[in-house]
Amino acid sequence: APFKLVVIVGSNRKASINRKLAGALAKLGEGAFTASFASIDDLPMYNQDLEVGAWPETATRLKDAIAAADAVLVVTPEHNRSIPAVLKNAIDWASRPPGKGVWGGKPAAIIGTSPGGVGTACAQQHLRDILGNQGALVMGGQMFITWKEGLVDEAGVVTVEATRDFLRTFMERFAALVGKLTG
Ligand code: FNR
Repeated sequence: APFKLVVIVGSNRKASINRKLAGALAKLGEGAFTASFASIDDLPMYNQDLEVGAWPETATRLKDAIAAADAVLVVTPEHNRSIPAVLKNAIDWASRPPGKGVWGGKPAAIIGTSPGGVGTACAQQHLRDILGNQGALVMGGQMFITWKEGLVDEAGVVTVEATRDFLRTFMERFAALVGKLTG
């Protein structure tokens, strides 16, 4: 049976290029994965006060989605050479309360795109460190996807063949890793 994959997009922008890339990756991973998308833009800004008596339903939903998945794929933009605040906020919520976080032992892969030459490399590096510290089992290797207008078409297909092959290999490599870690 295919692995259950939860996809987290590190952008709250409607026209997010990373959401487009995430859709294309979900398509390329079909067969190996059944993907669902977690929303993170409905989470309140993390505040420890909320943990007592006002724990948000949206944070429970995110944690349950991650806990129930075989693997997590994070597709993130880069903001000021790191991950966007909205993504860090989601990771923080899913790490709480102490001892009840959902990242430990979770197979994860990281990717992202930006119009820049090394598309989100710095953000990916920071994210690897953050998730690694939470005990997630993050796939090695870095992916440089420079966004160009039309790279992913309306149907969610990657229009550049070399990039499509590269991304398909990334999903195959991830499926093989998840198989090893969960088998
Ligand atoms: C950016 N952008 C950006 N790009 C990049 O490659 N490196 C960076 O450090 C930054 N920094 C940055 C900071 C802030 C506050 C914003 C709003 C943007 C540009 C970024 O790649 C571009 O806005 C993408 O379109 C964001 O991805 P989504 O939201 O479209 O998925």
